[in-house]
Amino acid sequence: MKRIIIAIDGPAASGKSTTAKLLAHKIRYLYLDTGAMYRACALAAKRQNIDIDDDAALKRLIDNIHIQIQDSEQGNITLLDSEDVSQAIREPDISLLASAISAKAIVRTKMVELQREMGKMGGVILDGRDIGTVVFPRAELKFFLIAPVEIRAQRRFLELQAKGLSPSFEEVLKELEERDKADSTRALAPLIPASDAIEIDTGQQSIEGQVAELYRHYQTRIAEL
Ligand code: CDP
Repeated sequence: MKRIIIAIDGPAASGKSTTAKLLAHKIRYLYLDTGAMYRACALAAKRQNIDIDDDAALKRLIDNIHIQIQDSEQGNITLLDSEDVSQAIREPDISLLASAISAKAIVRTKMVELQREMGKMGGVILDGRDIGTVVFPRAELKFFLIAPVEIRAQRRFLELQAKGLSPSFEEVLKELEERDKADSTRALAPLIPASDAIEIDTGQQSIEGQVAELYRHYQTRIAEL
């Protein structure tokens, strides 16, 4: 059976990574969380105290860090210079910094190159903001996940609580709105659906329902190829 490239894009906390991980498991594809790569860049910048608006310093940082994504049963493991930073990159302050750093050309160029290298053989699901528009515009199957911002904020709020963090719901909501706005209005690779992406509203769906819906589209697409 043909092993295709599946792109899943959408705003923050729209269910991309959970759905992508489960679908990848079901169809035995590799899952690649591209947001984790931008988060790792942000963590590196924070640790080294880099002003991300200082182009020379940012270039030095990006040229010298080594980011790897390993897929495992539990999901992606993110390595920054061989250190497992999978937990550290989920801290709320890293989310906004990831959004800011991901708007920089020097960062995107290197990350997109890595993503293309990892996905080029097919048999892969990538989730992000620009997978269907920029990274793999010729991906055989593209989804754009949406959900009302209050529902997305509620999901992220529960996720953070489960990790022992205690932000207020309002803080989480504000952070998502800020990030969506920045991601959608930036000049480079803005968050927009590819013209051939299938829009899925995850607002009222269970995770199983979502995965089943994407799986049906996958089967239809595979039968056409
Ligand atoms: O998990 P969540 O939806 O909150 O975010 P994420 O997918 O981990 O992405 C974090 C940030 O990285 C986003 O807000 C985007 O600014 C950026 N990003 C991007 O620019 N391009 C991608 N392909 C993936 C993420």
